[in-house]
This record gives sequence, structure tokens and C-alpha cells, in this order.
Amino acid sequence: MSDQTGIQAGQPSARQTNAMHEDAPEFAREVWNTRLGFVLAAVGSAVGLGNMWRFPYITSEYGGAAFVVLYILMTFVIGIPVLLAEFTIGRRARQSSVGALRAAGGRPWVPLGYLFVLTGMLILAFYSVIAGWVTRYALVALFTGFPEDTGAYFSSIASGIPAMGFHLFTMAVTIAIVMGGVEKGIERASFVMMPILFLVVVGLAVWAATLQGSGEGYAFYLTPRLEELFSARTIAAAAGQAFFSLSLGMGAMLTFASYLSKKENLPREATVIAFTDFGVAFTAGLVVFPVIFALGLQGAVGESTVGALFISLPGAFVSMGPVGRVVGALFFIALFIGAITSAISLLEVVVAALIDEWKFSRKPAAVGAGTIIALIGLWPAADTNALGFLDAVTNNIFLPLGSLFLAVLVGWLLKNPLEEVTRNTSERIRPLLIGWLWILRVVAPILLVFVLYTSLPIVADAFRALTGR
Ligand code: PFF
Repeated sequence: MSDQTGIQAGQPSARQTNAMHEDAPEFAREVWNTRLGFVLAAVGSAVGLGNMWRFPYITSEYGGAAFVVLYILMTFVIGIPVLLAEFTIGRRARQSSVGALRAAGGRPWVPLGYLFVLTGMLILAFYSVIAGWVTRYALVALFTGFPEDTGAYFSSIASGIPAMGFHLFTMAVTIAIVMGGVEKGIERASFVMMPILFLVVVGLAVWAATLQGSGEGYAFYLTPRLEELFSARTIAAAAGQAFFSLSLGMGAMLTFASYLSKKENLPREATVIAFTDFGVAFTAGLVVFPVIFALGLQGAVGESTVGALFISLPGAFVSMGPVGRVVGALFFIALFIGAITSAISLLEVVVAALIDEWKFSRKPAAVGAGTIIALIGLWPAADTNALGFLDAVTNNIFLPLGSLFLAVLVGWLLKNPLEEVTRNTSERIRPLLIGWLWILRVVAPILLVFVLYTSLPIVADAFRALTGR
């Protein structure tokens, strides 16, 4: 199908054309400068703490390779379809999540848009606390090296004033980038940072293969035991991880797609982004597991908690001497890049809604929303149980719920959903797109209801830990 708008993303005249287009809002809206810029920004959103910190620790919590198999299944069978659903709604309307949902389903869908905005705020509030730990670790690895007792060290910095300071710093960097705008802030930052992340992660995986005793790590990570494939909790956790890792269910990908030219081929972009996101998570596992097993630290990850990797990995780096210093610094720098490029997408969900719905201009929107989120984040920075609770509520309830509604909206209610996704695609993939619709209509809703149901005890546990009851 040809591009009806004739928009050339990034040229000044394109913005005017964009503004005149019937789908577009009445004022000129920002657009990505290049296709690669969009892909790197979306990959930047997807790749983050979820890939390099949460994925290895959840994998060990759920017993290793069986979890990895389920995670792959969830990413490709359900993740890509929901990602494509977000792209469809976002680019179709060229509005923030609130306006895009209104355009897709009418006024009753507006509250879901605001739920997305709230989810973005809550996730960013705790995400930036963890990103703050990462920032500190990167600096320590670079300048002083980790202390011997990494457990005691982690407890001393994980909450309270030290955590708040680094959380506020992360928020300040995030706000500064988002203030720069879609092209000059987010796209540019992703362009510079993401290639560094890829190089570092691949380099570290190659280095990890040279470690004596890494074999056991690979075995744990890559040899699935079949009986574990059928545990309800493991399936739900794998689905939750896939959704979190792809930034789904809260409008981040929807918002990024709203700045995308009508020329781009949405199914292709969704596939590229999901493969890259999976690739980085998988490669991070090829770093973490050999390192931990080579140093005999598997016990520490086995009893996995939020902090496990912040204790066992630096412990491993310390015992490697000078090499560990370099490798440790590289690992945490890559993690920092992942965290910042995800944080900007979380803030952009809120900022885009303020700009489109409330007619704010970008700078005050970024500073205002960022400051409120920074203040909310003082709570998880003060109390790790609050952090665990926010993580559990958003990952186990808000994201699956958001994804469920998106699947139903695009699968059942949106008029002519194939129109937007077939722009510039080849006729040959049409049967695949029909399959896509049926996944959204049937498979995704059943799975997501199951995920929601299965994860309720996880949220209850986190609530108990928070209230001490
Ligand atoms: N996908 C990010 C990660 O894996 O770290 C986390 C995330 C970012 C979730 C943005 C949701 C979101 F909107």
C-alpha cells in the first residue's frame, strides 16, 4: 500500500504536511528523523534493567533453562503481537496514549490512557532508584573498585539518603534528555548510547566464555528440564518478563510509534525490535551465568532477590583483581545506558500526554512530570519493600491488564486494524497478519487473564512485606 501522506520524516516541510494530515492533530507534531533512530529508541526502551538485571535473576529464581524456553515462546508468540498492536494504535492516531486510545475506541478508552500515564510514573519512580544503584556501581567500579564485602556494601547504599541522591541524579539526566525532544533528545541519545551497549554486552559474553569453569553456568542457563515447562507460576513469570522487557502494556511503544512516519513497515519494525531485545537479554545471560558459576557464587543467585546481582556480580568482579575492575565497570556502564534509555521512554509517555492533551510545551512538561516522579521515587528509595511492592503491582497487574485491553481493542473493536499494519508491507505476509489478529483476539487474552490470576499471590506477598503483616 502506498504512503498516503507522502511524509518524509525529519524534513521541516514534512512536519507541516504532518500537521495538515487528517489523522494528525491540528498543531505540528514531532517526528523521528530516521527509521534507524526510531528503531534504536524503541530498542533503547525495551533493553534495560529488565534484560541485564531482571532477566538473569528471574531466570535463576525459576530454575534456569526451562524459564528461558518459556520466555522465548512468550516474546515471539504474544510479545510481538501486542507490540504490533501498540504500534498500530500509536501510529494510526499520532497522539499520546490518551488521544490514541480515544481515537481507536472512543471516549470509554480514555481512562486506560490515563492508567498508562500513571503506570509510567510508578514504574519510573522505582526504576530510577535501581538505575541510581547502577550509576553508583559504575562509578565505584571505575574509580575505587568494589569493597570485599559486597553484601554489606549493597545494604549500605540500597536505601535511604545514598539511594535518594543517585535516584535524583538519574531523574535529572532523564529529564534533561526528554526536554531535548523526540529527535534532538531521545533519538540522539539512543543513537550514541545503544551501539556502545551492544558492543559491551557482546564483548563481555566473549570474555566470559574464556573463564575456567564457565561450563556449569552455561549448563544451568541452557539445558532445560522438561517437567519445569508446565509450572503455572513459571509460565506467568515468563509472560510477565516478556511484557516488561518489551515495554508493553503502558503505552511506551504506542507513544514512540506516534512519532513514526507512515512510510515505515510496522510488522518489520516490531520483529526487529523484539529480536534485538531478546538478543540482548540472552547475551546478558551469557555474561552473568558463566561469571557467577566460574566463581562458585551460584548459591548467592539461587536465593535470588532484587539485590542478588548487585551482590554476587561485584563479588565476582572483586575476586578477579584488575581484570574484574575493567569488566565490572563495563558491565555497569552498559546497564546504566540500558536504564537511562528505558527511563526516557517512561517519562515520554507522561510528557506526550501532557503535550497532546493538556497543551503543555515540552520543557515544562518534562520538568514538571519528572519532578513529581522524582518525589514519588523517594518512597522506594527510602524503603526496599516499597520498591518491591511497586515492582510487583506494576509488573504483575498494570502491565498485563494494559496489554489485555490493548489486545481486545485492536483484535475486536478497532475498525479495519489491518489497514494501518499493511502499509508498505508485502502481500505475502497477509496470512501472518490474520494470524496476528487471532492471537490478539483469543490467545493473548486467555494468557493474560491467566497471568493476572496467577500473579495475584506475588502481589499479595509484596504487600505483606511492605506492611509487615
Ligand atoms: N523494557 C524496560 C526494561 O526491560 O528494562 C523496562 C520498561 C521500560 C518497561 C519502559 C516499560 C516501559 F514503558
